[in-house]
Amino acid sequence: MPIGKTPATVVLLLSCPEEDILVKACEAIHTFAEKGDENKVSLLGLGALEPLCQLITHNNKLIRRNAFMALGIMATNGDIKSALKKIDVIPSIIDKLSLEEDIVVHDFATLCLASLSVDFACKVKISDNNGLPPLIQLLSSPDPDVKKNSLEIIFNLVQDHQSRLALHELGGIPPLLELLKSDFPVIQHLALKTLQNVTTDTDTCNTFREEQGFEKLMDILSNMDFHDLHAEALQVVANCLSDSKSLQVIHKGGGLTRLMEFVLTPNLPEIQSNAVKCIARVAQSSENRKLLHEQNVEKVLVELLSVADISVKTATCQAVSIMSFHLASKDSFRDLNGIPAVVQLLNNESLKLKEAATQALSNLTHGNQLNAL
Ligand SMILES: *[C@@H]1O[C@H](CO)[C@@H](O)[C@H](O)[C@H]1NC(C)=O
Ligand SMILES: *[C@@H]1O[C@H](CO)[C@@H](O)[C@H](O)[C@H]1NC(C)=O
Ligand SMILES: *[C@@H]1O[C@H](CO)[C@@H](O)[C@H](O)[C@H]1NC(C)=O
Repeated sequence: MPIGKTPATVVLLLSCPEEDILVKACEAIHTFAEKGDENKVSLLGLGALEPLCQLITHNNKLIRRNAFMALGIMATNGDIKSALKKIDVIPSIIDKLSLEEDIVVHDFATLCLASLSVDFACKVKISDNNGLPPLIQLLSSPDPDVKKNSLEIIFNLVQDHQSRLALHELGGIPPLLELLKSDFPVIQHLALKTLQNVTTDTDTCNTFREEQGFEKLMDILSNMDFHDLHAEALQVVANCLSDSKSLQVIHKGGGLTRLMEFVLTPNLPEIQSNAVKCIARVAQSSENRKLLHEQNVEKVLVELLSVADISVKTATCQAVSIMSFHLASKDSFRDLNGIPAVVQLLNNESLKLKEAATQALSNLTHGNQLNAL
């Protein structure tokens, strides 16, 4: 606080008409709020929120900037978030995401929205006020904090179907893919998590493929420095693998071999089970099953039936069921002693695994006398 000024006085100054006083008052509020949650809550009690929400739209650039810094810091507190929900501030914040605003404004405006966007009503408000286009633009901001905050808001928005489609229609996929190359792991993670959600849509997957999405993910999957990202990257691959065009892209780039290697990566069950899910996706077309059979996928799957992790075993049984559509695969599973391995899983206490194993046996034995024996 400026010398001799209490927080209460400074809050009163937020309603003063003199611009240089407003600049200083906002700055003082920001500094005071930054010191901790107790200070933020006391500012709330003193009525600082309403004037700050007005000042973020002030004509004076410096006032706007300082008011945003104060509001952004305050908005990270839960009580203040609740209070902000009752003030109709989201349209004014979105209005200040335009490219002519200062990076500092972008930084704190997106911080506010990131905090608010976990709430359903706020998400709707952000979408209804056309928040997505400027947020997509900010994914390419030179400032990593702005990038991260914008991505966090977009991740929260795409939890809803309508926003997933809108993100694709508004050209959000290329900048999202660009963020996979970020130097900041937190940005890479968030970009992958967002891609995981949006690639559940077929049109989005087509764009993903056209924008070299698979190649970009394979770069991540081939780099052991990024092993933290592998499980998430594989989930995105699995989402987009169902059509044969995608498989051709993956296969041409040596991706199928890479997937098999992943499947056998020891002691990393999440990666293994996601890689098996990819294989099961690939195996959905008969053309692809033939290709997988030629690559000896059955041998890999039989090995996985004895891995300790239950989700790996379950995913493997599901892949076995699908591969059983290919007649030669049924014989391979028998020759590799896969059948007793699946039978043994029927004893397991996990219902999901039992169900998957039963399904696999039903498929392996269907129309195959030797397997039934
Ligand atoms: C989005 O992806 C996350 C994993 O990152 C998942 O937990 C969540 O259920 C997904 N949401 C939707 C709506 O698909
Ligand atoms: C069921 O599977 C889990 C995980 O592989 C294993 O730890 C457990 O021993 C199995 N239970 C039985 C009865 O085979
Ligand atoms: C596997 O079993 C399911 C359900 O019984 C059936 O719909 C599917 O066609 C079977 N697949 C094969 C390869 O027999």
